[in-house]
Amino acid sequence: MRIPEETVNKIRQETNITDVISQYVQLKKKGKNFFGFCPFHDERTPSFSVTEEKQIFHCFSCGRGGNVYSFLMEVDGLTFPEAVLKTAELSQIEVDEALVSGEQAKLQNKDSKKDFLFKIHEESLELFHHILLQTTAGEEALAYLLKRGLTQETIETFGIGFAPHERTLLQQYLVGKDYPEELLKESGLFIEKENGDLLDRFSNRIMFPIRNQQGKVVGFSGRLFETSDFETGPKYLNSPETYLFNKRSVLFNFDKARPAVRREKEVVLFEGFMDVIASWQVGIQNGVASMGTSLTNEQIQMLERITDQVLVAYDGDDAGVEAAKRAADLLTEQSDFDLAILSFPDGMDPDDFINEKGASVFKELISHGRDTLFSFKMDYYRRDVNLKNESERLGYIEKILTEMLTITSAVEREMYLKQLAVEFDISIDSLNEQFQLRFYEQQKKRSKEPKKNTPSPDVRSTTFPQVHNQRGKLDSVERAEQLLLNRLFHFEEVRIQIKNLSEEFYFVHDDYQMLYLYYENFQEHAQYTLSDTSIEAFIDFVKETQLKNKIVEIEFQSLGVEITPQEIKDYIDVISRKSLLESQLKQTKDAMTEAAKKGDQAQLRILMIEIVDLSRLLKNG
Ligand code: CTP
Ligand code: MN
Repeated sequence: MRIPEETVNKIRQETNITDVISQYVQLKKKGKNFFGFCPFHDERTPSFSVTEEKQIFHCFSCGRGGNVYSFLMEVDGLTFPEAVLKTAELSQIEVDEALVSGEQAKLQNKDSKKDFLFKIHEESLELFHHILLQTTAGEEALAYLLKRGLTQETIETFGIGFAPHERTLLQQYLVGKDYPEELLKESGLFIEKENGDLLDRFSNRIMFPIRNQQGKVVGFSGRLFETSDFETGPKYLNSPETYLFNKRSVLFNFDKARPAVRREKEVVLFEGFMDVIASWQVGIQNGVASMGTSLTNEQIQMLERITDQVLVAYDGDDAGVEAAKRAADLLTEQSDFDLAILSFPDGMDPDDFINEKGASVFKELISHGRDTLFSFKMDYYRRDVNLKNESERLGYIEKILTEMLTITSAVEREMYLKQLAVEFDISIDSLNEQFQLRFYEQQKKRSKEPKKNTPSPDVRSTTFPQVHNQRGKLDSVERAEQLLLNRLFHFEEVRIQIKNLSEEFYFVHDDYQMLYLYYENFQEHAQYTLSDTSIEAFIDFVKETQLKNKIVEIEFQSLGVEITPQEIKDYIDVISRKSLLESQLKQTKDAMTEAAKKGDQAQLRILMIEIVDLSRLLKNG
């Protein structure tokens, strides 16, 4: 089934590209455009830009670009129709039901390894979920979850399930469905016996699906529950690393939290996924959890792309406080997040806290009970200090004054100095003096250090790449090609001028020639069907990603609003001269091959000199 062009255009026209992209990338307005970190590669300075005016995006560093559909295709690995439907969904535009189910059917016929593995996981989820909710085998597990306060709705939202005691259930369920045996083995859902038979890896465990950034299930975490007599082992058993599942680059609930993170401009980072789920249920939907280990670079980068504010909500026990300190260090060392910390009393974790104190106390804690990073550190360093011992007390104050160097706000600093003064009964003046001393020492040290390339936090906002850097890389011919196409895209008269050329005109580079031909086709098609002739529509018309990127590069060339026929003629001259030389060169080379075959030494010499001359002209052209 094809989505009618009319629908494709309508959805694109009713969508604002920045609304969609900002669900994936944190965008900041700079002049007319928005900038952020490119979601397609790692980078430390934001070179990814979006223009609302043109409804396109472009990365100055990797060159990717396109319209809202190309963005979703690339970022979520979707096909074109899937991207159109997803855009409709994100923009809440109604589409014909038949289209949606047609797309789903098509999706199910795809056969790549990845799709098979996704499907194996999706089907496993359905089986586990069914067993939990609909069968007697799942009753105890369901009772356990309900007792822990989860509602049926939450269980459904997260697709929680149950893997029963017998170890061949999933195996029987999937083997009947003609999946290649190799892929079942690769899925991580089975253990292979010595005779090659497969046994279910998870048994008698409550199954939590783990989804990737696109919301596709890539693994499971299975939890033993209290009454379980059959199975021993760790409380949580995770899928092993597989083709789909890489623990380092997964954050539990990242896919579902993204819109809320965007709305709240903040992500809540939990230790455990029961915490994420319990918070979700009481309306805190911007929570994610790392998979029970210390935060990885990959996870930090995922967060960095969607927000710059993190609320760390780790468990209240000693291990949790240590982990929160570690997370805070990682988040501030490797990035410049704004951090706040939630502390939970009596060793509770957020899930315990919600169950014990109720949703409103929890929400109150989130909105008004958060610690700043600094006050968290003050508490943290105080934990193993005996404040009755004078030298330990002084050591603590020293430590805090040194930490205070990282605070840039004078008001905030003064607040903490006052707090210290009251608590330790020292005059604020002498504390301040101590602080100033450290401050100047630090300054002195800094000015003595040879200038290193350590980026100061402000660097980010001042190093946005400029368009002309990019243009500087092009040679004069390619530049003329881009400018000519830019003009062609915006001025009808340029089309006519090119068509009226007495000699046939070709672009030198195949890409631009293709684009030119495509554009002619597109215009004719559009005029015939009276449809959208905008550049965004043209981007959809062109199927090759590489050409789509070129269109965007061309659109980003900034040119004056007025054009003259002379300007166009200049571009054409530069391009034609080059293509003339090129075709001469090719002819001469052919002639030389002929002469060589005939053994005509005299002719050969003449042609060789000609080739050298032409090549030189071409190079300097
Ligand atoms: N974890 C794990 N393996 C374990 C224990 C924990 O992978 N044996 C991971 C899980 O991802 C878990 C997280 O570490 O979500 C935090 O552990 P914990 O605080 O013990 O789990 P909770 O989320 O509190 O789970 P519950 O309330 O069900 O005990
Ligand atoms: Mn818990």
